Amino acid sequence: MYSTGPIGIFDSGYGGLTVMKEIIKVLPQYDYIYLGDNARAPYGPRSFEAVYTYTLEAVEWFFSQGCPLVILACNTASAKALRTIQQNDLPYMASENRVLGVIRPTAEVIGNYTQSGQIGVLGTAGTVNSSSYLLEIAHFYPGVKVFQQACPMWVPLIENREYDQHGADYFVKKCLDELLHQSREIDTILLACTHYPLLIDKIRMYLPPGIKVLAQGEIVASSLADYLKRHPEMEQRISRGNNLGSRLFYTTDSTEDFDNHASIFLGQDLRSIHVKLKT
Ligand code: DGL
Repeated sequence: MYSTGPIGIFDSGYGGLTVMKEIIKVLPQYDYIYLGDNARAPYGPRSFEAVYTYTLEAVEWFFSQGCPLVILACNTASAKALRTIQQNDLPYMASENRVLGVIRPTAEVIGNYTQSGQIGVLGTAGTVNSSSYLLEIAHFYPGVKVFQQACPMWVPLIENREYDQHGADYFVKKCLDELLHQSREIDTILLACTHYPLLIDKIRMYLPPGIKVLAQGEIVASSLADYLKRHPEMEQRISRGNNLGSRLFYTTDSTEDFDNHASIFLGQDLRSIHVKLKT
């Protein structure tokens, strides 16, 4: 009999909170632990080796907190570290536990949103260069054309709370123009970085009418609900409250900063705890 524990949700910084917000709407009864590796964000420009090492440290930490299931609510970590952790590390670390990402559940449904069969994917340089979305979407929707655009300034703008300032307009418009320059047939744009929903108002402002913008929170939340239905052995290992489970928040950087800014991403106030990961 395996022990029970909370669901772990991980991101390089604040972005995963946009996913957690939707997960706790759909599955409020479970206990959750969130970890933002703010001290080492952004992950987007970092090497495979660095993102893998940091993500593995986070997963080990979640397991040490008793989490049987960890969601990498970060596209960059999902693109660069998830597969290696699932295939090489998990069997030795804790073969009964599971680590899931955000790319596959998004790729599974994205084709249902497009009429033109052309999708734009906006992400960090790490996510775009990994080609993970190209491969995953081609697997589920071989007829859909995917155009990618890296937006390297967007995460720093968001982590530094400049996302609603005038300076952000320049970088938002620049990346959208670069994406739409690749094809005028794109009718669906995926925000393939969990930070980007904070820029959604500016993104909508600079897009021609008729183009849908998708954030991943709801997609990942409904995929997780479905996963837990299909895996009762895992569902029974998730600890819970009567109607509402507990939520704990950890950051590798200043708790004061985290508490002041995380509520914008989560939509509610919170108090965080500082944690130091290995390196
Ligand atoms: N929020 C993350 C993502 O979804 C990573 C952002 C970053 O650290 O560069 O890709």
